[in-house]
Amino acid sequence: MNYRHAFHAGNQADVLKHVVLVALVEALRGKDKPFSALDLHAGVGRYALAAEAAKTGEYIDGIGRIDSATDAPAAVARYLELVRGFNPSGRLEIYPGSPRLIRTLMRPEDRLTLVELHPEDHAKLRAEFAGDAQVAIHRRDSWEALRGLLPPQPRRGLLLLDPSFEQPDELARLARGIATAHRRWPEGVIAAWYPIKDRPPVDAILSALPPLPHAWAAELTVFDMLFPARLNGSGLVLVNLPWGVEAALCEALAWLQPRLARQGGAWRLEPLPG
Ligand SMILES: C[S@@+](CC[C@H](N)C(=O)[O-])C[C@H]1O[C@@H](n2cnc3c(N)ncnc32)[C@H](O)[C@@H]1O
Repeated sequence: MNYRHAFHAGNQADVLKHVVLVALVEALRGKDKPFSALDLHAGVGRYALAAEAAKTGEYIDGIGRIDSATDAPAAVARYLELVRGFNPSGRLEIYPGSPRLIRTLMRPEDRLTLVELHPEDHAKLRAEFAGDAQVAIHRRDSWEALRGLLPPQPRRGLLLLDPSFEQPDELARLARGIATAHRRWPEGVIAAWYPIKDRPPVDAILSALPPLPHAWAAELTVFDMLFPARLNGSGLVLVNLPWGVEAALCEALAWLQPRLARQGGAWRLEPLPG
């Protein structure tokens, strides 16, 4: 396992993923019932942008392009409000990862389960949430954890799948993971992130998914030309998308795309076969 998210924290892909994630958790909070959130590729939880992220500078073309925006639509504005909450000085120094974003939105009755296999990142994640009784942390393989941890209690909730795509077959494995998760937890909201390097492999996986209820693909690319060697953009498969989130995401993606664009690119939010 060579991938360390610290080098990529706050990049264009994180912005898309985290705007969607915050919108989903807000929708779960909208009802007066507890929820479970499972983040099976958790990373370390928070990132100092002056550390590894400064070496790649990827965050400059991600959160760095929008962090001071005052005209963002509601879903992006809520995400920016959360990011600003980690940066009280007003300077962008800390980027919250998915575990921290979810945890910030949780109520006392909600539960968060985190899985991270990398030994160092797992140790940092444990330190980040030390003493937090609402958060359970596992060091295990996420694909095996899918079977062991689903369905959660309470059964209402959200699963985030966000692998690092180090293996050539990881798109296919993600598709299998979505299918397994839905089989074991039919009512669970699923958000599964994928990179867009080349179009055909992504389309092959999306069309190979089994029928899924209220399922959508949300995508944002930042280049017109898709060079397979670079991250041209990314997307999420969304299952059991809560009512109302679709409209909020349309507005968010339309606002984000031109601001994150490097050389053209596009966005889409399209239903998958149900
Ligand atoms: C893209 S990063 C996660 C970023 C995080 N979800 C966020 O948005 O802040 C993917 C993480 O998954 C971990 N990982 C990769 N394969 C895994 C596996 N099979 N089981 C558990 N963790 C894994 C990596 O070590 C890495 O920290």
